[in-house]
Amino acid sequence: MAKFLCLIILPLLIVLPCSYALPQLMLTTGSSLHVEEHSQTFLISPNADFSCGFYEIGRNAFSFSIWFTNTIEKTIVWSANPKSPVNGRGSMVLLNHNGNLVLTDVNGSVTWDSKTSSGEGTIVSLLDIGNLIVKDSTGTILWESFSSPTDTLLPLQSLRKGTKLVSSYYSLYFDNDNVLRLMYDGPDISSIYWPSAGYSVSENGRTSYNSSRIAVLDTEGFFLSSDGLNVKASDWGTGVKRRLTIGYDGNLRMYSFNASTGSWILSWEAIAEMCNVHGICGQNGICEYLPSLRCSCPPGYEMTDPSNWNKGCQLQFNKSCSKTEQFDFIKVHQSDCYGFDLTYNQSFSLAECKKICLDICSCSAFTYKTGSALCYTKAVLFNCFRSPNFPGDNYIKVPKNMDTSKQSGLTCNPGIPVVLQGSASMYGINDGNKSYTTYYVFAAILGAIVLLFIGTSWSFLYSKQNIPKSMEAGYRMVMSQFRMFTYRELREATGKFKEEIGRGASGIVYRGVFEDKRVVAVKKLTNISHSEEEFWAEMNIIGRINHMNLVRMWGFCSEGQHKLLVYEYVENESLEKFIFGEVSTERLLSWSQRFKIALGTARGLAYLHHECLEWVIHCDIKPENILLSRDFEAKIADFGLAKLSKRDSSSFNLTHMRGTMGYMAPEWALNLPINAKVDVYSYGVVLLELVTGSRISSGIAVDGKEVELRQFVQAVKELLVSGDVKDIIDTRLHGHFKPEQVVVLVKLALSCLEERNSRPTMNEIVKALLACDDHDNHPAYSW
Ligand SMILES: *[C@@H]1O[C@H](CO)[C@@H](O)[C@H](O)[C@H]1NC(C)=O
Ligand SMILES: *[C@@H]1O[C@H](CO)[C@@H](O)[C@H](O)[C@H]1NC(C)=O
Ligand SMILES: *[C@@H]1O[C@H](CO)[C@@H](O)[C@H](O)[C@H]1NC(C)=O
Ligand SMILES: *[C@@H]1O[C@H](CO)[C@@H](O)[C@H](O)[C@H]1NC(C)=O
Ligand SMILES: *[C@@H]1O[C@H](CO)[C@@H](O)[C@H](O)[C@H]1NC(C)=O
Repeated sequence: MAKFLCLIILPLLIVLPCSYALPQLMLTTGSSLHVEEHSQTFLISPNADFSCGFYEIGRNAFSFSIWFTNTIEKTIVWSANPKSPVNGRGSMVLLNHNGNLVLTDVNGSVTWDSKTSSGEGTIVSLLDIGNLIVKDSTGTILWESFSSPTDTLLPLQSLRKGTKLVSSYYSLYFDNDNVLRLMYDGPDISSIYWPSAGYSVSENGRTSYNSSRIAVLDTEGFFLSSDGLNVKASDWGTGVKRRLTIGYDGNLRMYSFNASTGSWILSWEAIAEMCNVHGICGQNGICEYLPSLRCSCPPGYEMTDPSNWNKGCQLQFNKSCSKTEQFDFIKVHQSDCYGFDLTYNQSFSLAECKKICLDICSCSAFTYKTGSALCYTKAVLFNCFRSPNFPGDNYIKVPKNMDTSKQSGLTCNPGIPVVLQGSASMYGINDGNKSYTTYYVFAAILGAIVLLFIGTSWSFLYSKQNIPKSMEAGYRMVMSQFRMFTYRELREATGKFKEEIGRGASGIVYRGVFEDKRVVAVKKLTNISHSEEEFWAEMNIIGRINHMNLVRMWGFCSEGQHKLLVYEYVENESLEKFIFGEVSTERLLSWSQRFKIALGTARGLAYLHHECLEWVIHCDIKPENILLSRDFEAKIADFGLAKLSKRDSSSFNLTHMRGTMGYMAPEWALNLPINAKVDVYSYGVVLLELVTGSRISSGIAVDGKEVELRQFVQAVKELLVSGDVKDIIDTRLHGHFKPEQVVVLVKLALSCLEERNSRPTMNEIVKALLACDDHDNHPAYSW
């Protein structure tokens, strides 16, 4: 039977089952592989370690690639066309009769070729070491994939003068002085970051005197370069499959294959602290590693292009040097920017340092190290980082009169707070969640820029030019545990949107189940008046937010009018189902559950508000948006949607504002600039509702609302003074609560409803709650 199959397939291509029939695994002239047959392997190495064929980068987007055969997910080691994928229909690879190996796109245009022309008798084969070769009838190698690497170096493959490993803006190459380096070559600035630019070549243990310029990963896991670099895998020794890959994030890493788990393990990396990779947050951007990587803009700056961190941040004000007294400094703790020093002065006080920066027009900031009294003024802020280990602070020069609400970056349309997930576990190594992480490995390896095509693939066939500019956003997204879904997938998962589980201003939520049995909540967005790029940018924010008290987003779908978000499915219903109205006894929340929900919600909000330099404001905190997990852990839903549901200003009115009557802070109506304190206000209302079990926010007319709430607050204040909290608390608890916790909650709630400058921050609220939290959950005593 196998032989019979071979006879049918043989004229087209040679596949694994035929190997015993054909001792040489090779292609002769006239052989071809069509993209439609991408599930078939074009070529396989004799030891079966490597395969070669079409690899699906995204829907309808393919590359001609080589991959490891036995990894759980394909690990691509080379691609002919990493940046220009071919169409999923009509594309093919052909070894033509001239002896040229040609990759053609749907319209017949040549996307890539081996540029060989040795005529009939030419042979293409894949060697055991992963090298794809084209050789003529005499056996001379005319072309080999090893001499044109993409982002990966395999054992015995050498990197030489003129070849590079490249991934996004980053490359590994031999510099003019014979030193092997990593360089960021971005739109504005190029900068070398490995070996460390702060040290000389010899201090870095390299030499520039050997001009052979060759670097090789040997079979024992040693990576050796002619400039003296000599590093080894943590598991060095023979018999292990390895690869050396430059990541989309600019780090160079060696991986070892664990055959028993089928996954890759990190065995060496060039950069230990990811913020030492230059350019990662662009000009003026500040990098933080906590331990996932984050970019943010300093005070007074905003993202240049909200969809692309490589473009960095730009000033929010116009710089003028006419009046130096108009400037002030904002301190960014434990922060510095590499390079671009204007002046360097020793033994200067902070005040003197400030004065130097004020006197120099081009000074944008300075770094001051208190201990050693060192003062560095900076012209350009580039490669900025924050690190708890840095013994100094950065002071950003801003106009004195800068709007303080703007200054702190707090708006309902925030910049993008979070970018990359830089931790090693995100590279598919040693992580329990293999199906996901490994998927990201190969996607990233291919410089998943092309994944953007998924989003716009309806027009893919003839409009490859229409790639959203947010390329970086696209491939970064791929790196987090976050993916793009097709509309069809989601329609199937939800059974054609059958089971509605929720409905809100931004859309309807359906229950869905994926093939792997994972239950998800799919939100169909309505009223999205945003361009593809803005949508992607927004997804880039939300997709990176990850906290136990925030509903995790798994991915999204964007196909024309169809905009959907895929969330983790939260077991229980939302909070309002458990505190208002006729709640059956077993569903009634106990006091300790209520306290836990108050604390969890505060933690989630504190994360949104404070965890990064630029903050996300929820703008619609209410019990309906607080979901409860099976063990009654609060999970805030719907964050990050403030921007997406924004209407254009012409139709801006009260009913179109984001937020829900009764929970909205007075400043919404007063048209004041909105900051995070609007969430604090709404949180205060929710706290009171948790304590009282009644809808304080409802049944109050728009006009009457202020008055009634104020009266209620007044009454509560009086009760607090008399120490009589049991008149406030939900009677359904029948006195089972902790009075000291009730007092703290009520006091906090009242302070949240104050004028906004008097309201506490979410961090302060978390602290206050933790102070009266009882970790041991012994039952509350009776009043
Ligand atoms: C084929 O399509 C590519 C990309 O869409 C285009 O650049 C090229 O000019 C087309 N070639 C022909 C022959 O139409
Ligand atoms: C230069 O480097 C190559 C490769 O590492 C090595 O074989 C050679 O001996 C070196 N030459 C000198 C002069 O050190
Ligand atoms: C491979 O993974 C297994 C399971 O995690 C582990 O026990 C084993 O030590 C690993 N082998 C190597 C060579 O790292
Ligand atoms: C900066 O100057 C430009 C033109 O000179 C002006 O249009 C813009 O409004 C100014 N921006 C600010 C924040 O003052
Ligand atoms: C600070 O150092 C710069 C050179 O780095 C020098 O030109 C300048 O005069 C110094 N400033 C003062 C106030 O000494």
